[in-house]
Amino acid sequence: MKADYLIIGSGIAGLTIAIKLAEQFPDRKIIIVTKSSKEESNTQYAQGGIAVVMDEINDNFEKHIADTLICGDGLCDKEVVEIVVTEGPERLQELIDWGVQFDRTETGRLDLVKEGGHSDYRVVHHKDETGKEIERAVLAKAQQNDNIEFLDYHFAVDLLVADNRCNGAVVLDEKSGQQFLIYADFTVLATGGIGQLYQHTTNSVIATGDGIAMAIRANAEVDDMEFVQFHPTALYAKSEHTFLISEAVRGFGAHLKTKNGHRFMFGYDLRGELASRDIVSRSIETELKKSGEACVYLDCTHLEINAFQKHFPAITQYCWKQGIDVVKDWIPVFPTQHYLCGGITVNSFGQTSVENLFACGECSRTGLHGANRLASNSLLEAVVYAHRIFLFLKNKEIVSANVVFTLEDKLNKPQVSEEFIRDRDSMLRNLIQQNVGIVRNNEDLEKKKQQLLIWQEEFQSITQNYKLSKELGELRNKITVAFSMVVSSLKRTENRGCFYCDR
Ligand code: FAD
Ligand code: SIN
Repeated sequence: MKADYLIIGSGIAGLTIAIKLAEQFPDRKIIIVTKSSKEESNTQYAQGGIAVVMDEINDNFEKHIADTLICGDGLCDKEVVEIVVTEGPERLQELIDWGVQFDRTETGRLDLVKEGGHSDYRVVHHKDETGKEIERAVLAKAQQNDNIEFLDYHFAVDLLVADNRCNGAVVLDEKSGQQFLIYADFTVLATGGIGQLYQHTTNSVIATGDGIAMAIRANAEVDDMEFVQFHPTALYAKSEHTFLISEAVRGFGAHLKTKNGHRFMFGYDLRGELASRDIVSRSIETELKKSGEACVYLDCTHLEINAFQKHFPAITQYCWKQGIDVVKDWIPVFPTQHYLCGGITVNSFGQTSVENLFACGECSRTGLHGANRLASNSLLEAVVYAHRIFLFLKNKEIVSANVVFTLEDKLNKPQVSEEFIRDRDSMLRNLIQQNVGIVRNNEDLEKKKQQLLIWQEEFQSITQNYKLSKELGELRNKITVAFSMVVSSLKRTENRGCFYCDR
């Protein structure tokens, strides 16, 4: 197949770029490859909202910039922070123009809420299901364009790179098991996060770090892979998927308590429950180690219940189904993996170190987050960078490279057993959960690095000798990303933001 633009991923980042290119160039072809249903993504689960300065009386850009820099613990790129914060309002207006419905006050103004690390009310939201609403509207908008072709249930395997120039990707049709090549003049990785490397994560099943692994194999630069953000308040419950209790619930006034009712956060930070995520997660971890308990609690019982249920209908309902009545019960919560601050290194127009290859959204490392992301800055980063990639590509001629890649037919090769993939995956997730968590240790990391090296070699031979499936490809990618996270952790010598090592 051949496209002018190949976009891998159909979350907020991929869809936003696709819409802009499709509208600007009605005669050019855009292919979106996405490995699950079109909607399945981290975007779809975003709860809290998008942080944008919209209250010009109390809030201003300087305050949002300062909050982002403080949260990033000295490692943000200030210029990038300024770009993202100041371009936010225009990008938000675009989402509204595309049909995203954000909650409004009785006077028609956007309803702004607060989250951890924010000094003001600036999080724009759609109840507690902001991501679902964004994905709905943006996907509908993308589907109106005839020059965008969706290939859902298609797994991008590897990039087609020659002489440090990207020319498209190898793609697996998950239904037929057939691999094929898509040639493209420009390729964008918008493949999201890495949560599925952990046993406990708020992330979607798609978050297996594929884009980052492909970029690593293509020799693109990646950075800040040690900065994994843990969300302090995932619901502690027996269920397959770990459900998030939004930070906005604490912004609304909920208290974090131990089983005995001690409101412990003020013992760690003057901002109490609204300290930044790294601090709250580490404080909970310390409390849990002290008590030997498995969870702490969010107490919402003192809050105005009608307003709470109106703002958080999905959370209220989910808790109810788990037998928790937020009106009278405390919600059991524990910290879980949530977000990767690092990723594929890009410049301020989303360009990676490989020519004609771009990265956008959670898989990219722009410099915005530094050592720790400020709540609700991720959706914002995705739309701002999608626009900047579009601006760059708008002025670029389409010049197809004269290169031909060949694809080895692996259809007749044997299949790796499902049991092997399940077992290895479970060992990997256990290794990462235990060793690349909220508090790390160099000695353990060094040992695990050796184990990951062995698995990497093993997978090199497996992928050559066996038929590729999505599950096998994902596992190979997870091992590649895990190795990169461990190596980066070992390189960091001081504790910053969400990286903490007791050495
Ligand atoms: P995603 O939305 O994850 O999309 C990735 C896409 O890539 C998917 O379509 C996937 O199928 C596809 N893909 C991946 N690998 C391949 C492959 N090999 N081949 C083909 N396709 C592939 N951020 C905020 O700013 N505010 C919030 O309130 C907020 N709440 C959150 C709540 C939860 C529970 C979670 C998990 C995250 C939250 N975040 C929030 C973070 C934010 O949602 C994500 O960082 C952001 O949506 C990522 O968007 P993306 O487009 O980069 O990736
Ligand atoms: C949340 O709603 O707590 C998630 C916000 C975020 O990840 O930015």
